[in-house]
Amino acid sequence: MRILITGSNGLLGQKLVKQCLKNGLNFIATSKGGNRNPECPTLNYLELDVSNVLELNQVFQFYYPTHVIHTAAITNVDYCEINKEECDLINIESTRFLIKLSNQYKTHFQFLSTDFVFDGFKGDYSEEDEVNPLSHYGKSKVEGELLLINGDFDNWSIVRTSLVYGEGYNLSRSNIVLWALDSLKSEKKINVVDDQFRSPTYVEDLAWGCVEILQKEEKGTFHLSGPEIISVIDLVYRVADYFELSTTNILPIHSFDLKEKATRPLKTGFDIKKSLNKLGYKSLPLEKALERLIK
Ligand SMILES: NC(=O)c1ccc[n+]([C@@H]2O[C@H](COP(=O)([O-])OP(=O)(O)OC[C@H]3O[C@@H](n4cnc5c(N)ncnc54)[C@H](OP(=O)(O)O)[C@@H]3O)[C@@H](O)[C@H]2O)c1
Repeated sequence: MRILITGSNGLLGQKLVKQCLKNGLNFIATSKGGNRNPECPTLNYLELDVSNVLELNQVFQFYYPTHVIHTAAITNVDYCEINKEECDLINIESTRFLIKLSNQYKTHFQFLSTDFVFDGFKGDYSEEDEVNPLSHYGKSKVEGELLLINGDFDNWSIVRTSLVYGEGYNLSRSNIVLWALDSLKSEKKINVVDDQFRSPTYVEDLAWGCVEILQKEEKGTFHLSGPEIISVIDLVYRVADYFELSTTNILPIHSFDLKEKATRPLKTGFDIKKSLNKLGYKSLPLEKALERLIK
């Protein structure tokens, strides 16, 4: 196996590097700009902007990956809503080119997608449920998925995940647990939505699942998330409880009153039975994951 990871400076990318090192798997980690993950050996890192087709061609020519895990994306949902062309370039066009190369080099292509492909009216979504994205970010991920689903290339997997949390080095954005923890520790008042439901996902479990799909030579779509569906505000309350922090600064707010640029689906959350059965996927309950996280 020779695994090419895109977006290796990101939260998931860093844990994929960790997973490859732990399992002794041959990998090349790539991201935009320099290596910001001190756990990633310099020899395993290559600077790669996924919108640069010349660089993409070169990395395939020199490295001949047997597998690609494509995590690189513009992941800020409101930024995508305002900067649609840039979002499409990275989230769709770069994916299109990587799929073309994967087809050419007979490489397995794994695409990271999201619960935001759904409209959030049903909740507890399985892999078979119909997509209907509400935001431009969600639409860009659906487009990426469709390039695989409707294409003539069949060596692929799609991993959909939800509200990923965990720690990492020099991350360009925070995540719900780190944000809640930092804010509550510094006694800052925080507005937290009480009408959005998700399946919060510990990033280490997600990374394990992504690599397991490759090792088991599985194909198709998989939902990889935490084991429960809870509201975002309950998640924040539980973080506060776990770390014995006051909850008085947690202010409930409805999504509508937040006036964010992009519309979020209200009730997502995943049915993960397929991943449990086919991959032997295990995901930690929130408090167990928090225990790991502080260690
Ligand atoms: N986090 C979640 O809650 C969540 C939920 C559902 C789905 N997902 C999907 O899961 C994947 C991984 O998410 P994540 O949380 O690890 O996101 P992340 O922390 O934002 O990581 C994405 C990485 O992609 C890099 N990147 C952006 N544009 C690039 C480009 N043109 N060329 C190369 N690299 C580029 C970013 O670089 P910089 O760090 O330099 O900006 C970042 O390191 C994404 O595809 C995301 O859409 C995430």
